[in-house]
Formats: sequence, structure tokens, C-alpha cells
Amino acid sequence: MPLPTDHPSHSLSETPYLQACRRQEVRHVPVWFQRQAGRSLPEYREIRGQGSILDAIQDASLAAEITLQPVRRYGVDAAILFSDIVVPVNAVGFEIDVVPGVGPTVNEPFRTKTDLQRLRSLEPPVDTPYVLETINILTHHLEVPLIGFAGAPFTVASYLIEGQPSRTHQRTKSLMHSEPSIWHKLMSRLTDIAIASMRSQVLAGASAVQLFDSWAGALSAKDYTNFVFPHSQRVFDELADLGVPRAHFGVGTAEILSLMSEAGADVVGADWRVPLDEVRRRVGPDTAIQGNLDPTLCLAEWSVVEKEAREVLKAAGGQPGHIFNLGHGVLPETDPAILEQLVELIHNEGLQADSPAP
Ligand code: CP3
Repeated sequence: MPLPTDHPSHSLSETPYLQACRRQEVRHVPVWFQRQAGRSLPEYREIRGQGSILDAIQDASLAAEITLQPVRRYGVDAAILFSDIVVPVNAVGFEIDVVPGVGPTVNEPFRTKTDLQRLRSLEPPVDTPYVLETINILTHHLEVPLIGFAGAPFTVASYLIEGQPSRTHQRTKSLMHSEPSIWHKLMSRLTDIAIASMRSQVLAGASAVQLFDSWAGALSAKDYTNFVFPHSQRVFDELADLGVPRAHFGVGTAEILSLMSEAGADVVGADWRVPLDEVRRRVGPDTAIQGNLDPTLCLAEWSVVEKEAREVLKAAGGQPGHIFNLGHGVLPETDPAILEQLVELIHNEGLQADSPAP
């Protein structure tokens, strides 16, 4: 289904973020920050209130305001919807909570075949109407593209199976190897949910989508190929007809960057472990790249941030198809003034990557 001509992504198509996603020339290097909305911002802490993020986002005007806060303060080139990767699974009834300081937790984790019944298909207008309402509000206020998103099947599966954030992903890996048939059925359902969610976000007004496979770097390339790739590939395939850029991000993904690109992404986001010239070699010439300043360095003084940001720009080589970002989310301890300066640097000097520091 082609997008209507009054769809927001049409009027915004000449903006740097969308141009860079398409590897076109840009007037400045676009920049946005993963987790740009959130606890690092005093204006967020002021209006966020108590309780789970899953309750907070049901207030569409609050979620829209939180989405807009970093756009106003930093002048970033894209907004990202204020929501979470576990919203759709929670909305279909797989009870999950997001505990502040911990992350997503599940009282009754996914254990057996019968748990598949707890993952019916997602009907966005019925199950997550507040998400669509938030996007609708945002389309009236935004002058930069809105990025919609979903958790990738593997990363969401890990939360459902482990029951809490896990460093080893041990139960997840155990299930994929011992019960491959249940594993693929679970992945297939999570794939359907991610597709339905992102499709509805685009039809409501999002100009691009990003699939967050944050923990895919925990897998070997072989396991990624056998147990994850076909599902993530289907996500990208089934969104292709929408004609919006599709980004693919994970942490610690050095060994699977080429596969993440091959899955059908227009943009691959990388963490700080691989320099961007090498990222570009791995993802190939037809894919834009996003990243990759280490977010912990943003806790250092400005001279450090400046030096390291220039290194990132240098590795990107001033070539089209680079979106500046952090290699993972903004840490809550980050001083917003540092990110303000960082946006200014990228906008003013991003295209002169080789010019020496003043
Ligand atoms: O600015 C943005 O990037 C947009 C919003 C966004 C949030 N979560 C808001 C959020 C996005 C894109 C996410 C995705 C998400 N959530 C991912 C993928 C990206 C990544 O970071 O790797 C993952 C793995 C999650 C799971 C999750 N949700 C974690 C680990 C946490 C942190 C728990 C904590 O409190 O330390 C959350 C909660 C969450 N999601 C917060 C925010 C702003 C934090 C606090 C809150 O207001 O409750």
C-alpha cells in the first residue's frame, strides 16, 4: 500500500536524516541520539511522574511532549517515539513490566509451547491506540522526521524467556538449541507483532522505522544466521512496500554487521567497538550507517567528547549515508549541555571531517 501524498514523510523527505538514510547529499550531517528522551533531561524528570513507563505512554499528550523535549532542546534531526520495545507484547496480554533501574521484567516467563497462546496477534488500533494517537499529535508539531520502532524478535524473546535483563541470555540460547520448533514459532509470532506495530506507526505518520535488536551481539554469526536472521529479514521484507527507511541496530554486533545489512536494512546502526570506515566495509555500499560515539564518553569533559566525535566523523569520511548517533542510548547521568554542544559540532563541521581541530 503506497503512502498517501499528504503523508508526513513526503513533506519531510528533503530533510537531512531521511536524505542520509537514502545515501543522498545532505546540507549537514544529521544527528539524533538513541534514548534522547528520558532521565538525562530535567524537563523529562519534571513531567514524567511515578510508575511504569508502560502506564506513562498511555497518556498520548504526555508521550508526545516527552518525544518533543529533546528535539526542542538539542535541535536533533529526528524525533523518536517515546515508547518501549515491550509495549506491543504487553498489550497483547503477555504480562510484562518495566522496573525503573532494572528494565523489563516478567513474572511468568516464556517456558513451554503452551506459552505461545499468550502471544496472539497485535491489532494496533485496538491494542495500542494511544501509540497511534501520540503519533497523530506529533505529526502536527514536528518539523523533523519521526522514527517509529519495534523490538526485534530476538531481543524481545530474550526478555520474555529470561524474565529479566540477562547478560548471558542462557535460557534463550538453551531454548533455541533444544526446542528449535518452539523457538521458531515464538520468533514467528514476535515477527508478526513487530511488523504490525511498525506498519501501524508508519501509516499513522512515522517517517522511518528502526528495529532494535539490542542483544543480537550475544550470538555467534552461525546462531544468528540459523535462529534469528530469517525472522528479522521477514520484518524488513514486509515493510518494504511502505517506502520508508528501515534501520537495524544492535550492540556488540561486529561479527554480524554484514548479516544485519543483508536482512534488508537501509541503515545499519553500530556501537563504538568498530570504527565507521570498517562498519561501512562490512555493511556494503548500498547501506547507510548510523553511529557510533561511545555514550559513556559523553560523561567526560567537552574536550574529550569533541575529540572523539571528530574521530567518528573522520571514520565516516564525509561520505553520504552517515547519521551521527551514539553507539547505544544516552546514559541518565549525561549532562544535556554536552549533547547540545555535540549537535552543534556535528551540524557545523560534520561535512569537513578531515579539517583539523581548531
Ligand atoms: O529516546 C528514545 O530512544 C525513545 C524511547 C525508547 C525507550 N526505550 C524509552 C525508555 C526506546 C527506543 C526504547 C527501546 C528499548 N527499551 C530498548 C532498545 C534500545 C536499547 O536501549 O538497546 C531496550 C533494550 C529496552 C528495554 C528497556 N526499557 C530498558 C533496558 C529500560 C531501562 C530501565 C531503567 O530504568 O534503567 C527500559 C525503560 C525505559 N525505556 C526508559 C525509557 C526512557 C527509562 C525510564 C522510565 O521512564 O521508566
